[in-house]
Amino acid sequence: MIPMIAALAICWVLPVLLLIMQQQSQAAKAEALEEVSKRLRKKLVMRRPVVGGNWKCNPADPAKLEGLIANVNACSSSGCDIYICPSPLHVALVQGKLRNGAKVAPQNCNFSGCGAYTGEMAVDQMVAMGIEWCLIGHSERRGEFGLPTPGESPKLLATKLKYILDKGLKCVFCIGEPLSVRKQGISAVLSTCADQLVDILPYLDPDKVVIAYEPVWSIGTGVTASPAQAQETHAGIRAYIGQQTSDDVASRIRIQYGGSANAKNAGALSACPDVDGFLVGSASLKPEFSEIIDAVAKAKAFSML
Ligand code: 13P
Repeated sequence: MIPMIAALAICWVLPVLLLIMQQQSQAAKAEALEEVSKRLRKKLVMRRPVVGGNWKCNPADPAKLEGLIANVNACSSSGCDIYICPSPLHVALVQGKLRNGAKVAPQNCNFSGCGAYTGEMAVDQMVAMGIEWCLIGHSERRGEFGLPTPGESPKLLATKLKYILDKGLKCVFCIGEPLSVRKQGISAVLSTCADQLVDILPYLDPDKVVIAYEPVWSIGTGVTASPAQAQETHAGIRAYIGQQTSDDVASRIRIQYGGSANAKNAGALSACPDVDGFLVGSASLKPEFSEIIDAVAKAKAFSML
């Protein structure tokens, strides 16, 4: 009889108890984040918007770069920082050709200097070329484009970020959850974002690091996060950063939204107080890129006064 009760407890009661405890701890975490969020909302902080164009592995023909560069040069940077991530082969062809203060930010870098690192791009080489920004942690490098090799881990990305900052560059650091996590709700989303951020907390200098929140389910799918989803997630990420670092860091750090951002949805997303700009993929290869920049510059101009 006793072994039967013990078996029953192990099979049924224990998992239920564990589930309840897990839910309670999730609720406590959410409550703690909401407290920080409330505190941060009271701070009146001006954040200059920032929009990036990630050209990924495009265009195929370098002859098309001229048109893309002209497209960027047609954008106004008076109310918004701009950076462009050309494909690694094209970085040197774009660097030095942007005339409106837009910066070139390579899409990746290695975790140490020059040397025997076949196929890599060293931060040291970027410094020597006058490059000021580098983007890392894109979900397509974290393992989201189907390569049968391990994705880049949070620890590796923290090593890269430290190296970038040590060499005097600035960094766009991408994070974001897959669809399976989004389906579990906001607590799971924020917990995934926290897992991706925890190793870089010591390096979060708002003058040198921009966070790009890009939900994987929204990248290249045409499914954009709704303004409510984006705001809730950005505010949650900011609250987590506030909880783990300081209110000053959290309220000054810029958090971009990325994932099917375009000229049509940029206005509504820009109205979200915690969305500080965009990381744009396919629309950055089109003339509408400048409309996205104008939309966020206009939406934030009021708060910059
Ligand atoms: P899309 O704008 O094409 O969805 O890409 C977003 C992205 O991954 C930018 O880094």
